[in-house]
Amino acid sequence: MRRHGLEWWQLFTEIPKREKDPLGTIRRWHALYGPRVRIPVRSPASWSLTDPEDIRHVLVTNNMNYRKVGWLTLGRRFLGDGLLTSAGTLHRHQRSVLQPSFHRSEIQKSADTIVQEIDRTISSWKDGETVNISHEMARLTLGAVGQSFFQRSFRDVADELLEAFLTCQRFMARWSSFLPESFPTPKTIRYHRATATIDRIIDDLMSAPRPGGFLSGLLAARGIDGKPMSRQLIRDEIVTILWAGHETACNALEWGWYLLSRHPDIESRLHQEVDNVLEGRAPSIESVPHLKYTDMVFAEILRMYPPAWILARWAIGEDELSGGMRLPEGSILFISPYAIHHDPRWFPDPDTFDPERFDSARRTERPSLSYIPFGAGQRVCIGEHFGRLEGVLVLARIAQRFRLMPIQGQRVTPEPLLTLRMKQDLTLAVQQRRLRKSIAPYLHTTAS
Ligand code: HEM
Repeated sequence: MRRHGLEWWQLFTEIPKREKDPLGTIRRWHALYGPRVRIPVRSPASWSLTDPEDIRHVLVTNNMNYRKVGWLTLGRRFLGDGLLTSAGTLHRHQRSVLQPSFHRSEIQKSADTIVQEIDRTISSWKDGETVNISHEMARLTLGAVGQSFFQRSFRDVADELLEAFLTCQRFMARWSSFLPESFPTPKTIRYHRATATIDRIIDDLMSAPRPGGFLSGLLAARGIDGKPMSRQLIRDEIVTILWAGHETACNALEWGWYLLSRHPDIESRLHQEVDNVLEGRAPSIESVPHLKYTDMVFAEILRMYPPAWILARWAIGEDELSGGMRLPEGSILFISPYAIHHDPRWFPDPDTFDPERFDSARRTERPSLSYIPFGAGQRVCIGEHFGRLEGVLVLARIAQRFRLMPIQGQRVTPEPLLTLRMKQDLTLAVQQRRLRKSIAPYLHTTAS
């Protein structure tokens, strides 16, 4: 009979492997044991799930029975009770307060701001130079979310803010540590210093809100008790939007430029599309629907390297998955978009970078929850429209102006913390392209 997962004695060898190579290990477990893998680490049960129907059950249909996992929401001082980490009625209330600002029609207004941030970034790139793409994408995405939501690019404090975010993330990803947050190890001390830096920067921001913006809306909003929201909760929401809003998009774009630099055929199709559609102009909200291949490229990047590579929930009550599989109260469930996106049932030859998988016809051939870079259900990413718009604009604008090419000997290793980062900074050589007018007039037929 086929086993459903690991036996307890396998943990001695499997946990070190998981620590060393989380991505490879989770794929191997699913290849060996199927779409439901039992991991005997916590009582009463822990499972890793990749079946789209199980995912629908946990994230969508019966989502009220599942909460975000407490130890993944470690580091309370960092994100506090912001939207990413809060639960229950507080989460529902806060989501309803923030949601209108993330509506597609609101987000579309950010397109020009995002393009200005891109242009600001690439204005210093010189033909033939090597550029630290990780560094550039981090500042660009922080600037894009900062300008769009807070009318501040944070360029003056970007280095210390990004460093503080990374320290917090490294601290929160210490999933196998049982020490409390207050225990004074060097890592905890660094973490407390980092949160103090973040607090100072957010304090400055809150003391000078721009009228009419997202921040003044937050300052005027009512909390769950009908009173003005506490300063602490507003701080938590700002940190959450800034961190979740730049970190994910930054990771995706870094992986994207890495993939494109190694696939000149795909890069060249991308160039063709941006040249034809944009005809030398900067991308805008009007051109985005025509950048179809660019959108497919971004979708495929998110498939191969989903920034939120693992989600976790715990069952607040007993439940049952299809086929009568019982989940006792307190069960921990891992849902890995990375493992799901590499399931050959939905994505044959999953390690191949192939944007054609997102051709409109092929998208419908798979179950919808076989592709979940933004999660699903009640806790689906609130910033999905922003993230997708930003992804397409950045790819299009940079591909219009530059080729990004690999440098010999550059090592690229994933570092899966809370998000799927790169361990070493990515450096690429930039080659300026000449702005081209349309070479495919049939795309823009004139009335005859
Ligand atoms: C490519 C870009 C992005 C990706 C791949 C991404 C991915 C995700 C995923 C998978 C979740 C669900 C986590 C879970 O269920 O446990 C999530 C939640 C969230 N994301 Fe994003 N995200 C992106 C961009 C953004 C942006 C631009 C913002 C804000 C400006 C943002 C803010 C949030 C927040 C606040 C939540 C928590 C929502 C809630 O629980 O109600 N994200 N994101």
